[in-house]
This record gives sequence, C-alpha cells and structure tokens, in this order.
Amino acid sequence: MKITTATFISSYADVKKCPAPDKPEFAFIGRSNVGKSSLINMLTNNRKLAKTSVKPGKTQTINHFLINEEWYLVDLPGYGYASVSKSTREGFGKMIEEYTTKRENLDCLFILIDPRVEPQKIDLSFIGWAGAQGIPIAIVFTKADKLKKNELQKNIAAFQRALLQTWEELPPMMITSSEQKAGREDILEFIDDVIEK
Ligand code: GTP
Ligand code: MG
Repeated sequence: MKITTATFISSYADVKKCPAPDKPEFAFIGRSNVGKSSLINMLTNNRKLAKTSVKPGKTQTINHFLINEEWYLVDLPGYGYASVSKSTREGFGKMIEEYTTKRENLDCLFILIDPRVEPQKIDLSFIGWAGAQGIPIAIVFTKADKLKKNELQKNIAAFQRALLQTWEELPPMMITSSEQKAGREDILEFIDDVIEK
C-alpha cells in the first residue's frame, strides 16, 4: 500500500473526544520508549508527524493521524512507565484500557516489543489481557537494527516460547527497524489486508 497523505487530526486524553469511529483504525501500544511514535513516522515517511524522545513517557495522549483520507493510525502513551497510575488494574493505564476496550473501529492493536531484552512480564501480561478482551492484536518487534541477526532470531524465539505457554496459536508477528526503515511493507500490507477484508 502507498501512503499519499498523513495528517495529524487530534490529541486527547479522553477516548470520548476522539474522532468519530467511522474509519478503519490501527493503533500502536507497548512499553514506554519501545518506538511507537518512531514507527508511525517511519510508516508515513514523515520524521516530524509523531513526537518522539530518547526519554520514556513522551506520548501522553491518544493521537489520531488520518492516512490517505481513509483510515487512522493512532499513537498511544506507553505502559510500564512509573508515571502511570498504580491504582489502575494491571498497571496499564486507564486511558489505554478505555481506548483499547471501547474504540469500536479498532481493527488491529499492534503491540510493540523490544527484542533486546528477555520476555518482559508486563508485555506478556498485556498481551494476555488484550487477548482475553477479544482485541485483535499483532506483535511488532522494534529496533531490529540494534541486534545481530542471530541474536534477534534467538530472542524472538524466546518470546514466542513464552507466549506459547498461554496461547495456543501465535498472533501475527512483524520485525521492524524505524532507523533502517525495515518492515515497513510488511506492516502496510498487513493493514491493507485487514482493510480489504
Ligand atoms: P513513549 O511515547 O515515551 O511511550 O515512547 P515511544 O514508544 O513512542 O518511543 P519513541 O518513538 O519516542 O522512541 C524512543 C527512542 O527510541 C527514540 O530515541 C528513538 O529514536 C529510538 N528508536 C525508535 N525506534 C528505533 C529503531 O528502530 N532503532 C533505533 N536504533 N532506535 C529507535
Ligand atoms: Mg511515543
């Protein structure tokens, strides 16, 4: 799929204020600093569309970007960062919970995973929770440029093994590097397939 236009639409903490749910929507979630905003910029070929930072906790709201006037990409705040309310169930954050469970046009939630570290409890727990909620998910391994190919494969295999302890079937998985623009076509084709269905 070709992206011809990518336009910032809105930034809200309240899911009720988000644009009308009348278009296909694809959102990015994962631990703070995993590279959600960078991935949106990579996909849209616009380094300045979503705000990124070396410091975790940059994205604090639900950000809608309209693509080709037809569908939405959504940048979300990260989970697992200290500023997220501890009182919220599972510690994922109320905004994330509300958005992911109430957004009726959400066609796929891409859960971003940093493959440099061993499988993290919070990621496995979030994936388990999203699955139990019936949210359609796909896994995206980010920052692939930071690992040697064999290390990357080894760590991804370890993550898949961890998932298979509770999942009978693995969700769709993609490998990306925003730095090297790798995995772009895989994600765009995946989105295209979901929209066409
Ligand atoms: P929050 O909004 O804080 O939750 O973070 P985020 O998940 O949106 O991460 P962001 O895109 O802001 O990126 C965090 C840091 O990782 C930045 O310094 C990026 O430049 C860096 N980064 C993101 N993707 C990649 C990648 O593919 N490769 C490398 N080497 N660095 C990356
Ligand atoms: Mg961000």
